[in-house]
Amino acid sequence: MFKSLIVGNWKMHGTAEEAVNLASQLAEGWNAGNDAVEMAIFPPFIHIPAVAAAVAKSTISIGAQNVSEYSAGAYTGETSAEMLVDQGCKYVLVGHSERRAMHNESSETVAEKFIAAQSAGLIPILCVGESLQQRQGNQTVEVVSAQIAAVVERAGLHNVCRAVIAYEPVWAVGTGETATPNQAQQVHSAIRAQLGEAGQSTQLLYGGSVKAENAAELFAQPDINGGLVGGASLEAVEFLNIAKLIEA
Ligand code: 13P
Repeated sequence: MFKSLIVGNWKMHGTAEEAVNLASQLAEGWNAGNDAVEMAIFPPFIHIPAVAAAVAKSTISIGAQNVSEYSAGAYTGETSAEMLVDQGCKYVLVGHSERRAMHNESSETVAEKFIAAQSAGLIPILCVGESLQQRQGNQTVEVVSAQIAAVVERAGLHNVCRAVIAYEPVWAVGTGETATPNQAQQVHSAIRAQLGEAGQSTQLLYGGSVKAENAAELFAQPDINGGLVGGASLEAVEFLNIAKLIEA
C-alpha cells in the first residue's frame, strides 16, 4: 500500500565525528535502500549538515528532533522549519514525550509546531503517548486521542492524515520496557479509527524500547507501519537489523 518508515532518533548523543561515522555505516549498510521501507535518521541539530552530506548518495532521509513554531525573529536558541528544509531535512518530530515533559510543550504548542513544519514543506511526525499512571488508570486511548484532537482542531484532519503519527508510550521510552504487540496494536487501531476514512493510509509508527529482538512482532501488527527508535538507532548494525525486519 505504502512504504513503511523506520526512524532513528539520536536524541542528544555524540560528537560530529561519531555522527558522521554512524551515518556512513548506515548509508553503506542500507545500500540502494529497500523498495518497501524508508530509513530516516534524526541527528542533533548541530550535526544535521555533516550527516546530510554523509548520506547524500544513499536513499536515507534526514529529520530533526524539534522545530520552532515561529518562522523567524528574535527567538534565541530556536531553529525554524525553513532552516531545516534548507539543510536537507524531510521530516521533523513534534511533541516528543521528552519535550512535552521536560520543556513543558502543551498540545497547543505542538499543534503550532506541526503547522509551522507542514507550511515549510516538512513532514511532521506527531508523537503521542500516555504515562504509566494514565495507562494504569485506563486512560490510554483518551489521552492519545486528545493529543491528536488538539492538532486536528488547529491543523485540520486532512493535514494530520498526510503527516506521520508515532505512538510512543512514555513508560516504554528509554526504559527497556516495550508495549506488547497487542497493546501497541490496540492503540494504533484506535488512532486509525479516530482518523477515519482519510487516515487509512496514514503512516503510524510505534516507538519505545524497539530492538531487533522485539521489532518483528511489533511490525507484524496490521496498524503498525514502522518504528521510531531511540537507543537502538545509535548502533549501526542493530538499527539496520531492525530496519530489515519491517515488511511493507
Ligand atoms: P528508545 O528506543 O530509546 O526507547 O526511545 C524511543 C524514542 O523516544 C524515540 O523517539
